Amino acid sequence: MQENKSHWYDGMFYDHFIAPHQDKVFAQLKEMLTKGSTVLDVGCGTGRLASQLLDKCERIEIIDLSERNIHIARRKLADVPPAKLHIERADLLEFVVHNVIRFDFAIVSYVLHEIREEERDVLLWALSSVADKIVVVDYLVPQPGNYRGLVNHLVEYAAGREHYRNFKSFVRGDGIAGLLKKVPLRVISEVKDDACSSHVALLEGRGGGNRGARPPCPIQNTNLDKSRRRRILWRRTVKEKVFL
Ligand SMILES: C[S@@+](CC[C@H](N)C(=O)[O-])C[C@H]1O[C@@H](n2cnc3c(N)ncnc32)[C@H](O)[C@@H]1O
Repeated sequence: MQENKSHWYDGMFYDHFIAPHQDKVFAQLKEMLTKGSTVLDVGCGTGRLASQLLDKCERIEIIDLSERNIHIARRKLADVPPAKLHIERADLLEFVVHNVIRFDFAIVSYVLHEIREEERDVLLWALSSVADKIVVVDYLVPQPGNYRGLVNHLVEYAAGREHYRNFKSFVRGDGIAGLLKKVPLRVISEVKDDACSSHVALLEGRGGGNRGARPPCPIQNTNLDKSRRRRILWRRTVKEKVFL
């Protein structure tokens, strides 16, 4: 597993000053879920979204690599029974690729823009194998040419050099729309620029009994760092030949 994911704003700061700005988009996302469904939220931050989805879901699994974010999520959701909620500190790609549980929905909210370019398609593809539907939320690209677009750029710049580099490559690659050209999943519905200059897309996973006929996961051909790819594939072989 990657050691840790750490930003200066993780933990209490994120929970109090950043996550609340997502509430409008979280409400849109919640609308897309079916009542009583099982949900995987990768890159869950401090668990704010999970806390808002609990009444609609039968079970939620949330994972994040940031120690401080996971610490806050555990504290905030301490009263929720383990049968209903599972919280894990894990690298999202490693978790998803070797996970063997199937979910009704997988959620990836404001994560794609901050991970490396070569990991985005792999993550989306792997998510489409573990969930019937995927909700992807991120910045709308192109960003609006008004003060909101400017603020978003400044926020991303302030997050650190690597983070900003990834954000810029996300924008250059045409955001979620560009990613869907590489990973052609069917778009069931989408909302653009309704909340915080965001793009919310509900996608169809590759569920059903037709796994053998699917094209291989891009992890085999990707530019992923060699040691990372080897680790992920090794874990998959050890666990079970799943999904890909
Ligand atoms: C901008 S926050 C979004 C949090 C939450 N999903 C939301 O919408 O408010 C991105 C989160 O992704 C997590 N993250 C980034 N890379 C990750 C990785 N490789 N594995 C697990 N979590 C990761 C970060 O730690 C952070 O909590």
